[in-house]
Amino acid sequence: MPAGTLPALYGEDFAADPARGYRELRRLGPLTRVEIAPGVEAVLVTDYEAALDVLRDTHTFSKDPRPWPDAVPEDSPVRSVLGYRPAVTFSDGDTHARYRRVIGDSLALLGPHLLQTQVSDVAARLIGRFAGTGRADLVADYALQIPLRVFNLWFGVPEADGERLVARLAALSGSGADAQTGYEELGEVIGALVAERRARPRRDLTSYFLQHPAGLDDAETIRQIGVTFGGGHDFTTNLIANTLQHMIADPRYDGSVYAGAMTAHEAINEVLWRNPPQSTSTGYYVRYDTTFHGVGLRAGQLVLVSYAAANGSSQPGGETDAWGASESAHLAWGAGPHSCPARQPALLIAITAIEELTSRLCDMELAVPAEQLRWRPGPFHRALTSLPVTFTPWAPKAPPPPDER
Ligand code: HEM
Repeated sequence: MPAGTLPALYGEDFAADPARGYRELRRLGPLTRVEIAPGVEAVLVTDYEAALDVLRDTHTFSKDPRPWPDAVPEDSPVRSVLGYRPAVTFSDGDTHARYRRVIGDSLALLGPHLLQTQVSDVAARLIGRFAGTGRADLVADYALQIPLRVFNLWFGVPEADGERLVARLAALSGSGADAQTGYEELGEVIGALVAERRARPRRDLTSYFLQHPAGLDDAETIRQIGVTFGGGHDFTTNLIANTLQHMIADPRYDGSVYAGAMTAHEAINEVLWRNPPQSTSTGYYVRYDTTFHGVGLRAGQLVLVSYAAANGSSQPGGETDAWGASESAHLAWGAGPHSCPARQPALLIAITAIEELTSRLCDMELAVPAEQLRWRPGPFHRALTSLPVTFTPWAPKAPPPPDER
C-alpha cells in the first residue's frame, strides 16, 4: 500500500471511534502499516502477544532512532514525541538502566502519605474555585490542573512558571504545531530549577535527581526531568478525565457517582483496560531485517505498539470483571524495560483526585449529550477536549461560631 492510502491514526474520524478503527486494523494482521501524521509511516502492533514481544525483545528492537535515516519531517506534529533526545525513553541497555534508576529511586523517596495529602489539598482548592457555580469543565478546571500542580510541588517548580507550563504542555500532548516550543519552554524552566537546586538542594524531586549516586550532569538531569514531567503530567490528566467521563457519562452506570456503585479504583481499572490514556507507545526501531509474527520488517523501520488495540485483542486468564478486564493483563502502563516507572504515584494521584471530587459533588451530570463529547485527535493519546458538567452548587461549610464548638 503506498503512503497516503494507509489507514490514518490521526484526525477527527479516528478519534471519534478508535475501537472501530482498532477492530479494522486487527483484521489486517498482528502488525500493519499505518500513517501517524501526514507523510509519516509506522508499523502498528495491534495483537497482544506481538505487543508483549516487541516491548520485551531488546535484541530485535531498539529505542534509539539515531542509527537510521530520520523519517520524521522537522515540522511534523509527531516530532515532539519521536524526535530523538538523550533521555530515558530513547535509550537502551546501560544508559537506559542508569537514567531509569535515577527516576525510580527518586520517585520512591516521595512518601505515599505526603503525596496523598498534597493531592487532597490541591484537589480541595480547585474544587473550591468552581463548586459554588454549579458547573465546571472537568478537563480544564480539574484534570489538567491536578497533576501539574502536584508535579510543581514534587519538583519544586515556582508556581508562576508552572502556570505558564500548563498551556505549553497541553499543546505538546495535542500533537499541535507549537508542540516543540512546549518542550523548549519546559527545558528553560527546568534548566533554571536545576541550577538553583545544584547550589541549594531541598527536599524535592529535582534535588533527588541531582543527588543520585548515578551522578547525572545538569544537561542529563534536565532531560530526564523533562520526560518525566512532560509525559507524566499529560497521561495522568487523561487518566483522571477518562475515568470521570466513564463514571459520569456511561449509560450502563447511570447514577453510579451518586449511588457510589463504582469505586474510583474499579473505574480506573476499566479505563486502563478499554480507554488507556497513552493509546500508543513511543518509537521502537527494528535492529536488523527480520520476520516477526509472520510479517517482514526492515532494519530501521519504526514500530509502534498500540496499547489500546492490544488490550482489545487479549484473552486474559484468571479473575475478570463484567468487561473481561483483569488488572494484571492490560498494557496501559506498557511492559518490558520501558514500562511506566510511576504507576503507583500516578494511581495515587488519580484515585485521590477522583474520590475528592465525587465525594463532594456527588450529583454531577454531563452538561451536554454524551455523543457531543470530543476527543483530541493524535496517534499517541486518548484525551478529551472538555468534560462539561453541572451539579448542585456547593460551598464548604463556614466554621461554626465559637460558642457552638
Ligand atoms: C506520576 C505520573 C507519571 C510519571 C512521573 C510517569 C513517568 C514515566 C516515565 C519517566 C516513563 C519512561 C520510562 C522508560 O522509558 O524507561 C514512562 C513510561 C510510560 N508511562 Fe508513565 N508516568 C506517569 C503516569 C502515567 C500514566 C497515568 C500512564 C497511563 C496509564 C502512563 C503510561 C506510561 C506508558 C504506557 C509508558 C511506556 C512509554 C512508551 O510507550 O514508551 N504513565 N512514564
